[in-house]
Amino acid sequence: MALLDIIVAPDPRLKKRAAAVERVDAATAKLMNDMLETMYEAPGVGLAAPQVGVLKRIIVVDPAREKEEPRPLKMANPEIVWASEETKLHEEGCLSLPEEYQEVTRPASIKVRYIDEQNEIRTLDADGLLAVVIQHEMDHLEGVLFVDHLSALKRNMIIKRLTKIKKFEQMSAKRHPVEVG
Ligand code: NI
Repeated sequence: MALLDIIVAPDPRLKKRAAAVERVDAATAKLMNDMLETMYEAPGVGLAAPQVGVLKRIIVVDPAREKEEPRPLKMANPEIVWASEETKLHEEGCLSLPEEYQEVTRPASIKVRYIDEQNEIRTLDADGLLAVVIQHEMDHLEGVLFVDHLSALKRNMIIKRLTKIKKFEQMSAKRHPVEVG
């Protein structure tokens, strides 16, 4: 397994629509495992392939809390086939928007159909945190970030802050160039 680099916003690669996976083969299964390892290391509860620069419809999630048994889910081509009318407000964060947390409203329960790591079609009923995480990760496949659910004012504030941090990091990287090879 390998750790992957997580893309931080703002970045045009996070705004693109991901392409469907034709078949979950060995390479896709390996990518899923690498994504899961990257997510645990971050640490986070979900990760979508576009966040590691792969424009494919793949997400991994694990809603288990720190002391619980891991419950990893690896999904290709996830599709919401049913969503409850009842909605829920939940504070969300994102590995591509470090240190930013905001409340987002989404359907409270969903039924999702996907292809698992064995290339089998499965359906899953999810509510609570799992439903939130799956919907958040599926948004990434459409080039949508959780801040896109907020008011323009809030969104712009967050993006401005992240842009500043990025500029600062680029400047200090220039001042202290990393020796390569
Ligand atoms: Ni995210």
